[in-house]
Order: sequence, then C-alpha cells, then structure tokens
Amino acid sequence: MVASIEKEFQERFGRKPLVIAAPGRVNLIGEHTDYNKGFVLPGAVDKRIYVAIAKNDSSEVTVFARQFAQSISFPVSAKEPMEGWINYLIGVTYYLQQTGTPITGVDVLIDGDIPVGAGMSSSAALCSGYGFALNELFGLDFSRMELAVIGQQTEHNFAGVKCGIMDQFASLHGKKNHVMKLDCRSMEFEYIPFDFPGYKIVLVNTMVSHSLAGSEYNVRRAQCEEGVALLKKYYPEIQSLRDVSYEQLTRHWQEFNAVVYDRCTYIVNENQRLLAGCDALRNNDLPGFGEMMYASHKGLSKRYGVSCKELDYLVDIAKTAPGIAGARMMGGGFGGCTINIVEEKSIDSFVDFMQESYKLHFSVIPEVYVMQLEDGVKEVVSGK
Ligand code: GLA
Repeated sequence: MVASIEKEFQERFGRKPLVIAAPGRVNLIGEHTDYNKGFVLPGAVDKRIYVAIAKNDSSEVTVFARQFAQSISFPVSAKEPMEGWINYLIGVTYYLQQTGTPITGVDVLIDGDIPVGAGMSSSAALCSGYGFALNELFGLDFSRMELAVIGQQTEHNFAGVKCGIMDQFASLHGKKNHVMKLDCRSMEFEYIPFDFPGYKIVLVNTMVSHSLAGSEYNVRRAQCEEGVALLKKYYPEIQSLRDVSYEQLTRHWQEFNAVVYDRCTYIVNENQRLLAGCDALRNNDLPGFGEMMYASHKGLSKRYGVSCKELDYLVDIAKTAPGIAGARMMGGGFGGCTINIVEEKSIDSFVDFMQESYKLHFSVIPEVYVMQLEDGVKEVVSGK
C-alpha cells in the first residue's frame, strides 16, 4: 500500500511525500469509561490510515481521499466545519495553530484499510496521523499526548461527538504485542503484554454502520453527568463517576431517575471489571478474562443501552463457537464489531460458524478480522 501511495502522490502533486501510518484500535475491556475519567485497555492494530503529505506554495490544504476518489481544499486559516470527513482535517489544522506556530499550505493524499463505521476508530486514526504529519513537517514539537487531545477537540467541535480520549490515545501510543492500561483521570498509562499464548484477537463486523452513535453517545455522556451532579450534593469531592463507589451509588438509588441509575451502575462496575481484567491478563487467567468480557457486554447491553440486536446476537452465538474464550461488543456501540478472543488453531472453524449463523439470521455475511497488536503512529517508507 505504501509504495502505491507514494507513486500516486508523486503523479498527482509532482513531489515525494512524507508518509505517516496511523493505526485503528481495539479495546479489550473498559467501554464508555474514558469520558467518565476511568480506565481503558486499548491496543493499536494492523489496520491503518495512511497520510501522505508535502508542503505546497499556497495557503491551502488540498486533500485527495483515495477511498472516496474525492478531492477537497480549504484554507489553512479555516475555522468553520464543512460537510463530511474533511472536518477532521480542518479541525486538526485549526487546533494545531491555536497553540503553535501558524502553518502554510500542504498537499495531502489519504488512504487506508480500516473499515469505516466498524468501530475501529478510523476518524481518530485520521486525526492522529494528520496531526502527527503536520507536527513532523513543520517541526511543531507537540507531544503524542497533545496530538491526541487535538484529535479529541476536533471530534468534539468539528464532528459533534463528545468522545473520550481512548481512540486518539491508542492510535498514537500503541506498542507491538501490548495493550495499554490508561487512567483517563491522571493520563498515566502502562503497557501490558497481550500474553494469552495460542489465542488471537478476532473482530466480527455486524456490517451495521454505527452512524446513530453520535447523538446517542452524547446522551449517555449527559446521563453520566446527571448522576455525578446528584451525588455531588452528598459527596462534594466527586468530580466524575470514577470517584463514585458502588456503596455511594446504591445508598441514593431512590433519588435517581431509573435510566440514569442504570447508566451509572454500569460505569462503576465496568471500572472495577477493568482492574480485575488487568490482573487476569497479568496472571494469564484467560477463563477469568473471558468471563469479564461477557459481563461487560451484558452491562453495555442491558444497563448502558448501547448495543443492538446484531451485536447481542454475535456475542450470544460466540459463546457456543469453537475455540472462544470471551466476547463482547467493542467501541461506542449501535453497530460496528464484537471483539472475541479465539484459540488460534480454531480460527477457521470459528469464522465459518460465526459467518454461517449470522447469515442465516440477518442475510448478511459479517466480515471477520484477525488482529495483530502493533506500534502507534509512525513514518513509513516503501520497501522497509
Ligand atoms: C468511542 C469513543 C471513545 C470511547 C468509546 C467507548 O470509540 O470515541 O472515546 O468512549 O466509544 O468506550
């Protein structure tokens, strides 16, 4: 892919580009906990967005998206969102200049193999890759964490999704064969090896695009904030659901709106599950980790209300599939993929079983991706 991107850039823009690869992410456990200042356990993967870039002599950013065969330009000084995917680039260009030096025009070519709308964070990868590319090209000196925050601000204010920091963080900080336990309150993180010998991470795509996710996502966030506001009256030190214990929550259940109570209960439990999950991972306790994945899914579906019938079906049938250790929905929800931990030697029969069952039920063949944990955003050169 890199060689053909370099070639097309050269043909289109007549210069050699800098090429940056920005991975998508998986998350083993800890869903919707990031914007509640809790923990997440993501890793960067071997599906990527590529950003090829070179300075031009204008004050315009000219972008060609190969996947959509679409070309769009905007001035580097643009402050307002436009329509569609170009907003990610407008936003990053804008925020990079808010704290750094102004930049001049660039030519950009984008391509990639992260399935769009599948919950593998193609938009976060785009922001991370493009931000990293500008940072390199203009010597701007932003840290990877600062670039992650710029991607998150872009998502908030140019795409309208009040997301947490997990996806941008994961794309920028990934490490081969490792996941990262990120504390979204202190922003400290540690690498933990994904060390279940003979097992692989396998994603099964519902093929339902999670386009509704944006509005419902923001509703969940508001419901969590409502819970925090209620509990703060009794415990002024509480800043987020991360600071809330199960005892504090249950003591006040009668004062809660039932839906908000369910949302908060899920988050408080999921944080605990993640901590237990990290212990299971460190102790190579695969059955224990698998149980936590199923419990996480149940919470996301029944209490947090972000699953859908297709995701529930995939998790249900995975429980009886060959070689399975654990499964749950992954990411924001309302479609996208389930994440499964599957015995390597059973992967072929797992895939057949999942695809045939799902097709019988929903008349669609789900795509399946066997994932490799990889390094975060970096420069790539063809032939290396
Ligand atoms: C989306 C968001 C993340 C996170 C997940 C759910 O991927 O971008 O910040 O909240 O959903 O865990």
